[in-house]
Amino acid sequence: MFKIEVNNINGKTESLYVYGEQSILTELENHSILLNHSCRQGHCGACILYLLKGDVTHQPCLVPLSQGEILACQAKPISDIEIESKN
Ligand code: FES
Repeated sequence: MFKIEVNNINGKTESLYVYGEQSILTELENHSILLNHSCRQGHCGACILYLLKGDVTHQPCLVPLSQGEILACQAKPISDIEIESKN
């Protein structure tokens, strides 16, 4: 199991424990943490988060990402991670 440390996303700061089988976006939704999103397919860029700690697997996407940015809909944790919202 991996820990997702949520750092002030939609006003929430808390730790989630997940198996790493679902996207970060889905895991947040499962824990009632709502994040902007639209396509869920790596096209729109609405779900960008900052990865502050840890590692994720990331599906290929069309959105140009800067260092430390991930798409919540395309990323799954492979270690304990800490994430923060972009805004
Ligand atoms: S919801 Fe569109 S890129 Fe994640």
